[in-house]
Amino acid sequence: MNNYLESERIILRILTSEDFTPLFNILSDEETVKYFVDRPFTEEKIKTMVNKVPQEHYAIVLKKEKLMVGYLDFYPWFMRDTYDIGWTIDKSYRNLGIVTEAATLLMIYAFEVLGTHRLVATCQPENIPSNRICKKLNMRLEGTFKKCIYDPNEDNWLDENLYAILKEEYENEN
Ligand SMILES: CC(C)(COP(=O)(O)OP(=O)(O)OC[C@H]1O[C@@H](n2cnc3c(N)ncnc32)[C@H](O)[C@@H]1OP(=O)(O)O)[C@@H](O)C(=O)NCCC(=O)NCCS
Repeated sequence: MNNYLESERIILRILTSEDFTPLFNILSDEETVKYFVDRPFTEEKIKTMVNKVPQEHYAIVLKKEKLMVGYLDFYPWFMRDTYDIGWTIDKSYRNLGIVTEAATLLMIYAFEVLGTHRLVATCQPENIPSNRICKKLNMRLEGTFKKCIYDPNEDNWLDENLYAILKEEYENEN
C-alpha cells in the first residue's frame, strides 16, 4: 500500500495507532455500525485494527480541518490482483461526497499504480448510501448473496450485494 494519497479535499494515509481515539469515537456510534456484523467495536478490536500489519485501512483526513473523519478498507481478496474496498465516515461528515472522493482516489491508485485486475465491494441491500457509492464509482452489481452473513447480534442471516469493476471497465470509463 502506498502510504499517502491526496485529492482536492482529502488525504488518504495508512491508519496508525494515533488514530485510535477518533476511530473509537466513530465506531462507538450505534447507527454507524448497524450494518457491521462484528459490532460492537471494543477498544481491543480498534487496537487490532490500527496496529494491523500489513495495514488494511486508510485514514480519511480532511485537508483543511486536519481531521481524521473516517477510513477506507483496502485488502487483497482471494484471487491475485483483486482487492476489496470498503468505507466508513463519521456521521457528522456524511452526504458531502467525501467517501466517494476518497474511494475514487483509491480506485485510481489501485488500477493505475498497483495494476489491479478487479476491485470488489460488498454491502447489504438495505444500506442505501453504500450501494449508492458503488454505483457512483461505476461498479457493477454482480449479484445478491442470499442469507450469506450471520449477524450474532440479531441471531439473523443477512443478504449481501456484491459489486465489482474490472480494469478494462475502469479504463473505458476514464
Ligand atoms: C456509507 C457511507 C460511508 C457513505 O459516506 P458519505 O461520505 O456520506 O458518501 P457520499 O456523500 O460520497 O455518497 C453518499 C450517497 O448516498 C446518498 N444517500 C445517502 N442517504 C440516502 C438515502 N437515505 N436515500 C437515498 N440516497 C441516500 C447521498 O445522497 C449520496 O449520493 P449522491 O451523491 O448521488 O447524492 C456512510 O453513510 C457511512 O459511514 N455509513 C456507516 C458505515 C457503513 O455502513 N459503511 C458501509 C458498510 S458496507
